Amino acid sequence: MTITLADEIDISRGDIICAGKAPAEQTDQFAAHVIWMHDEEMIPGRQYFIKTANRIISGAISELKHKVNVNTLEHMSGKTLELNEVGFCNLSTSAPIAFDPYAHNRETGSFIIIDKRTNNTVGVGMIDFSLRRAQNVHWQDLDVNKDARAKAKHQRPCVLWFTGLSGAGKSTVANLVEKRLCDLGRHTYTLDGDNVRHGLNKDLGFTDADRVENIRRVSETAKLMVDAGLIVLVSFISPFQSERRMAREMLEDGEFIEVFVSTPLAVCEKRDVKGLYAKARRGEIRNFTGIDSDYEAPERAEITLDTSKTSAADAATAIVEHLKKHGYLG
Ligand code: ADX
Repeated sequence: MTITLADEIDISRGDIICAGKAPAEQTDQFAAHVIWMHDEEMIPGRQYFIKTANRIISGAISELKHKVNVNTLEHMSGKTLELNEVGFCNLSTSAPIAFDPYAHNRETGSFIIIDKRTNNTVGVGMIDFSLRRAQNVHWQDLDVNKDARAKAKHQRPCVLWFTGLSGAGKSTVANLVEKRLCDLGRHTYTLDGDNVRHGLNKDLGFTDADRVENIRRVSETAKLMVDAGLIVLVSFISPFQSERRMAREMLEDGEFIEVFVSTPLAVCEKRDVKGLYAKARRGEIRNFTGIDSDYEAPERAEITLDTSKTSAADAATAIVEHLKKHGYLG
C-alpha cells in the first residue's frame, strides 16, 4: 500500500495515522493500571522500556497512587508492586507517545514494561488518561545557557560520579579532588550521600526503592549543576547499574565520568570508620550494602581505583590528570 501525504510531515515506520475527527492523544505523562508480572518488585522512579502499540521508549512509573485488591477492588496504599499485584500509577516517558484510553481502544491503550538490564517483561499496563500537567508545562528556553555559563568559568562542566561501597574512600578522594580543582581556580560542587540525606533526601531510607529515588533526585540535581557550568562531584554508594545508567543518559556525551572506587568489602569492613559494618553484622542495621543489600559493580567506568592499593592523594592526582587530558579544565 502506498500513502501520499498532502503536506510535508516527518513521519516514519511505526508512526500512527488516525482519523482527523478522532485523533489519538499525545502525552509523556499519563495514568494507567499496571499489573506487575515479575518476582523483582516494581520500583518507582526506575527507568524501564515502555513498549506501546507502535514504539519502544524509556519511561518510569513516577508514582504508585494506590494498589487494587483484585478480589474486592478496594484501594490499598503501597510504595511498590509485587508479583501479580495491580496498581494505579502515574507514568512518564522520555518523549510523547500516541495513545487512546484503554477503555476506547485496547490496542493503542495498552503497553508492556520491560526491564532494561535483563530484557524481561516485568509488567503490563492499560492507559486511563493523560495527566493535564503534561499538556500545560512547557520547556522554557533561556538566553544564558550552559555554554555561556561554562565559557565564563573557563571549564567544561561535567559530573565525576564516585560509586563504591560504604568506607571505600569515595568521599575522601572526592574531597581531595575538589580541593585540587579549587586551587586551580575551577568552579565545583560536591554532592555527598551522607550530607544530601540530611536535607533534600531526608525522607529516604535504604530499601531498594528509596535508594533508586535517592539517586534519581541527586542525578537531577547534578544535571542542574552541570547546566550551571560546574564540575560536580557526586559521592554516593549508588549500588544499582540501572540508576547509574539513568544518570549517564540524562547528561550529554562526555559529561558523565564514572569513578568506580573498587576497594574490596573486606577492607571497607576492616576500616569501619563509622562502626556501621559491625552494627550490620550484629543485625542492628538492615539492608546494609555489601552485607544484606546488593552492590552491582560498574562494567565500563571511565576510572577505577582501589584505595587499598593506591593512596587517596595518588587517586586524586589520577582523576585531575584525566580531567586535564580530556579538556575539562579549559
Ligand atoms: S545509596 O545506596 O542510596 O547511594 P548513600 O550514598 O546515599 O547510599 O548513603 C550511604 C551512607 O549512608 C553510608 O556511607 C552510610 O554512612 C550510611 N548508611 C546508613 N545505613 C546504611 C545502609 N543500610 N546501607 C548503606 N549505607 C548506609
